[in-house]
Amino acid sequence: MVKIFVVDDDPFLGNLIKTALEKMDNVEVTHFLTPDECLNNLNQNPDIVTIDYLLPGMNGEELLEKIKNYNDAIQCIMVSGQEKIDVVLNTYKKGAVDYIIKNEGAIVNIENAVKNACKNVHLKKEVETLQDQILDRNKYTNILGNSAAVLKTLKMIQKVEKSGIMVLVTGQSGTGKELVAKAIHYNSPRGRKPFVTVNMGAIPEDLIESELFGHEKGAFTDARDKRLGKFEEANEGSIFLDEIGEMDLLMQTKLLRVLQEKEVTRIGSNKAIKLDVRVIAATNRNLATEVKEGRFREDLFYRLQGFLIHLPPLFERGDDVILLSKSFLSEFCKENRIPQIALSKECQKFLTDYKWPGNVRELKAVIERAAVMCENNEIKPEDIVFVN
Ligand SMILES: Nc1ncnc2c1ncn2[C@@H]1O[C@H](COP(=O)(O)OP(=O)(O)OP(=O)(O)O)[C@@H](O)[C@H]1O
Ligand SMILES: [Mg+2]
Repeated sequence: MVKIFVVDDDPFLGNLIKTALEKMDNVEVTHFLTPDECLNNLNQNPDIVTIDYLLPGMNGEELLEKIKNYNDAIQCIMVSGQEKIDVVLNTYKKGAVDYIIKNEGAIVNIENAVKNACKNVHLKKEVETLQDQILDRNKYTNILGNSAAVLKTLKMIQKVEKSGIMVLVTGQSGTGKELVAKAIHYNSPRGRKPFVTVNMGAIPEDLIESELFGHEKGAFTDARDKRLGKFEEANEGSIFLDEIGEMDLLMQTKLLRVLQEKEVTRIGSNKAIKLDVRVIAATNRNLATEVKEGRFREDLFYRLQGFLIHLPPLFERGDDVILLSKSFLSEFCKENRIPQIALSKECQKFLTDYKWPGNVRELKAVIERAAVMCENNEIKPEDIVFVN
């Protein structure tokens, strides 16, 4: 349903527009005679407003400004007898999507303008639905576990999500570091802004700087075009520096500068760009040891430690193994549209006793393989094959 407001102090013309627009499918049209009436009803969240230019109390331009201030997403269409180019330009500058001159063809033009605006409204709603789906998929409710360690982690995520504080997530491979990083971002006020991942271990050393900070055209031999760095891409959102322990000392120095100054300079440029980026880093190395052995800068370590979330290995999480196994199993059966598979009692003991070197990721792979191999909808110990 698209909600449309028509503001026109001429009762006859206002009604004419309203009647014309009401012929469209799935719309609800309300006519207001004064700007104040319209403003007082903005809390009904109209999607589109058509605004007459000459109105009692304030002109259409002022009303447009007030509506855009209230909610910039509202699509405003100006309807006016004014043909002066500066008036027209001004309303566009203030965010109107269309400008209709009041003449014989006005009603048809208004209908077309509203139809166009409807497309924008639908697109916006679609984007919002998709964003909501992404947000839902990454909420911390997806981090499963009842063990003290996991509950503590969830509490910490809730503490840091509202602040912009830098976070370091540590833990062995497969313990859920990326899952936690995403939960922090998508639960934070930045949740609808970009989440940009950079894997420090996967980029060749000589490309890291341009990858992170970008470069200008011609900055080096291969720089044929200007390129934005990941930090710029992540502006207003979060950057996830995965495997930060793999970064070499020179890059660590450059990163530290960016963190302190909150600005980046593209390679080949001398202009610094101010940024607002939340940094979340992760590593499976013990950074304190790396510092002691001279491979990691101590000052950067302390800065990243701003808030440390350590994820314990899976075998220290007790019954979480069973909880996770059952959840992965239901997910697998649902995805493959097969009847629910059970986990036999012997199996449960078997799984909790194992050390899980590959942690949750390994457990997931093992359970999915067992689900394929098992017979009579039940997983038995012989269906379990450890990969490590
Ligand atoms: N507590 C959890 N609840 C549900 N799923 C989890 C949990 N922890 C991890 N997983 C799942 O396990 C897999 C591995 O998690 P993730 O990629 O976050 O680990 P990681 O610590 O980043 O590993 P690596 O160091 O190897 O990159 C993912 O499929 C993730 O969804
Ligand atoms: Mg990871």
